[in-house]
Amino acid sequence: MRVRDPKLVAALPELGALLEPGTSLAELTSLGIGGTTDLLRITKHDAIPELLNLLDAESVPYKFLGGGSNLLVGDGELPWLVLQLVSPDPDIVLEGRFAQVDAAADLGRTVTFCAKNDLGGMEGLIGVPGTVGGALRMNAGAYGMQIGSYVRQVKLYRAARRRLETLEGDQISFEYRHTSFAPDDMMLAVKLELPSKPYPEILKGIRICNEKRRASQPLGQKSAGCIFKNPPGASAGRMIDELGLKGLSVGDARVSDRHANFFVNAGKASAKDMLALTADVRARVEKSFGIILEHEVVVWNA
Ligand code: EPU
Repeated sequence: MRVRDPKLVAALPELGALLEPGTSLAELTSLGIGGTTDLLRITKHDAIPELLNLLDAESVPYKFLGGGSNLLVGDGELPWLVLQLVSPDPDIVLEGRFAQVDAAADLGRTVTFCAKNDLGGMEGLIGVPGTVGGALRMNAGAYGMQIGSYVRQVKLYRAARRRLETLEGDQISFEYRHTSFAPDDMMLAVKLELPSKPYPEILKGIRICNEKRRASQPLGQKSAGCIFKNPPGASAGRMIDELGLKGLSVGDARVSDRHANFFVNAGKASAKDMLALTADVRARVEKSFGIILEHEVVVWNA
């Protein structure tokens, strides 16, 4: 999708939106897959409702991109504009046990920054790539913790009401890899309340989680983390492994040899390859286990 209307292009700077024409989404996603579109980088939260009203008035479809680490984007020329927040400086402000964090802040850096200030709880999230906003929307979790447990307040663009809102933690439900946010709500900032812990103790926890992750996940390769959700009471990775599917490929899309629920881009995989591989694995799991796996990765397919 290319923004060509001169009136729209001229209105963008005042709304704090920077246009980057012809951006490759393959370069903005950890899978390294995705076609091309115009990117709008947003620097002013307060101007978002006006900006989106303008895009709607001009019938320009759009999607919100976080850190691109849990995302599988379609190939070719993409039919929507992509909007991404630019993080302010500083993007994390601490006040006692509370951390006010911009949605565009890097998750790993947030975990370590809080840790260095004796605020723990998020040790399990170390090594989870992406932004705080993305982690919030998906309720990212690992090693027995999930980010939702620490959320006290969220500032967001509420798409249904077309306005910025602040929600208290108890107005939001956080479940396994799912939240009560609507798919078109845009996370802007979050206030976390974290347990006080001495830094060396947090560091110990971080090291243990890092170790476990390194031992079981293909960290150096292009992936979107786990591709399927774990069905209740079962492990997608174990089932795929039991079927002997590690190494199964379609083009350069490949089931990781290290963790069977990680599908990697081993070269120049297309979205078509990756989706053919997920469909094949899903069909085999259903046939053998009678369980239909659900994508954990968010799919933006035209
Ligand atoms: N297993 C196998 N073969 C494999 C992979 C796993 O037999 O190829 C077995 C393991 O030995 C273990 C069980 O399956 O007994 C579970 O595996 P693991 O501990 O790696 O955890 P997981 O359930 O596969 C979940 C999350 C991960 C998170 C880890 C650690 C989901 C879909 N996955 O993985 O999150 O890092 O626990 O807490 O919830 C993600 O969300 O993208 C993600 C990677």
